[in-house]
Amino acid sequence: MPDLKNFDIIIAIDGPSSSGKSTLAKDLAKKLSYRYIDSGAMYRAVTLYLLRQEVSYQETNNWDFLENEIHLDFQLDQDVNKILLNQEDVSELIRSAEVNEHVSLVAALSPVRSFLVKSQQAMGQNGGLVMDGRDIGTVVFPEAQLKIFLQASFEIRAERRFKEQLAKGMNQTMEDVKQNLQLRDFIDSNREDSPLFKATDALVLKNDDIDLEEQLNICYKWAKEKMQSLKS
Ligand code: CDP
Repeated sequence: MPDLKNFDIIIAIDGPSSSGKSTLAKDLAKKLSYRYIDSGAMYRAVTLYLLRQEVSYQETNNWDFLENEIHLDFQLDQDVNKILLNQEDVSELIRSAEVNEHVSLVAALSPVRSFLVKSQQAMGQNGGLVMDGRDIGTVVFPEAQLKIFLQASFEIRAERRFKEQLAKGMNQTMEDVKQNLQLRDFIDSNREDSPLFKATDALVLKNDDIDLEEQLNICYKWAKEKMQSLKS
């Protein structure tokens, strides 16, 4: 058996909210001993920063402060991927209802996108990376060796998000969750800059009826096949 570990590829996973991207990306990265980057967490951390500083982001013209004031890092801590905003662990804070409400509006702003895309591309310089988001296979890494587009029906996604919020003790009704998902789906798919869509060369996985283990096995097989084909 050849040593496939020498072929450190980039795996891009895109799809709408609650399609299961983050869980898949994290598990796949672990199985391959790759780095996992949650690009959505980066948009969330910038949103948190703007809300804290009370920046009226729809009206701001000068975005130089992004480069000057925001530093994002990921830290793997006992299997948990933490995001640090200027050294502060904001992993929990970025999942608040308030951030949920603003993040897609912030993510539609081109200066925010170029700031984050640049830093995401720098993280992928050496390959050996799984990154999930909305534009990873289309904009951030159009040359990624493996692109996966995850899909699930709206009802299933809403159910998953509702359970997640409930487990975190967040006081939201199913209706709140559905409204937020619907709105974010709309903004993410219709914005001018880097809307969510499937890259032409992405493999589609619809995961309504498959469990996490099965999903992971399918994608792991795709990754190994890709590595093998690059080797031969
Ligand atoms: O957790 P969920 O799947 O709902 O979203 P997320 O991956 O944490 O991303 C939060 C938001 O950031 C999305 O709704 C998008 O508006 C934005 N985003 C983006 O525009 N591009 C990315 N590559 C990742 C996230």
